[in-house]
Amino acid sequence: MGVVAITRRLPDSAAARLRAAGHQVRQHDDHVAPEHAEILRLVHNCDGLICLLSDRVDAELLDAAGPRLRIVANYAVGLDNVDLAACRSRGVAVANTPGVLDEATADQAWALLLAVARRVLEGHRLVASGAWTGWSPLQLLGTSLHGRRIGLVGLGRIGSATARRARGFGMEVVYHARSRREREERELPARWLPLDELLASSDVVSLHCPLTHETRHLIDADALASMKSSAILVNTARGEVVDEAALVEALSEGRLAGAGLDVFEREPRIHPRLPALANVVLAPHLGSATVATRDAMAELVATAVVEVLADRRPDGLPLDPPKR
Ligand code: DGY
Repeated sequence: MGVVAITRRLPDSAAARLRAAGHQVRQHDDHVAPEHAEILRLVHNCDGLICLLSDRVDAELLDAAGPRLRIVANYAVGLDNVDLAACRSRGVAVANTPGVLDEATADQAWALLLAVARRVLEGHRLVASGAWTGWSPLQLLGTSLHGRRIGLVGLGRIGSATARRARGFGMEVVYHARSRREREERELPARWLPLDELLASSDVVSLHCPLTHETRHLIDADALASMKSSAILVNTARGEVVDEAALVEALSEGRLAGAGLDVFEREPRIHPRLPALANVVLAPHLGSATVATRDAMAELVATAVVEVLADRRPDGLPLDPPKR
């Protein structure tokens, strides 16, 4: 049986599943990331690795793990932290957690959107400070969403779940993706638009695309300048999709009404001027953070490791194990 390295504290079910299958678990059992050198020691001679989106799985780490490594299971659906080519060239399979976090992440996009649109944090601070003087017709007026247009950048599983909620709020849904999603267009319904039209015409822009070379800084100064000054930007995808400094400028100068951000360009650091802006709501990358979702993610990564180490080829891995 194998040794499985886990780079952080996870729901206990992950290690329990691995041990039940006879594997030895070597875990950095803490909420805080280990130093890079410690990760390199942790993975040495392991057969399987369960890692986080904040761990960079590159040639250096794969070499530190050594030739026994057969699977990297990323405790996230996004795989931008994993060098797939380096895994492929070493015959290492790659797993992730698709399908179990769509609804939770869409909920988080809506939580942020509603909080920004209805100025929930400003209201909370006013009441909690004791400075509230009573109901007032012009106090903390927000943005109506009903009848407005939401533009989704990316219409995969999470984008679609976000769109379904938008229908419930009486919003028109448009989207941009590299390829048309005809089934979703019919079922949601949603209408494809070129990115520039989507940005220029949407009252809310919500990001649901993976981070790739093409999407890094997709929302840059020019993209922000093309948006309505009354628009709200929501990002539950990856921080690097947005040029955070350009976003801070647009928000400070009133060229954008607000932003709900679950992800940041250099997590856990954020742009120093973000916290002082009244029209933003910030969350510490909580898209999938419900008990049930994190349990389901633990089950998926542990199962993928158990299957691959038992010489089976589970369906739907982003990178299959080599044929034996
Ligand atoms: C993911 O899965 O990629 C999220 O960002 C974390 O749940």
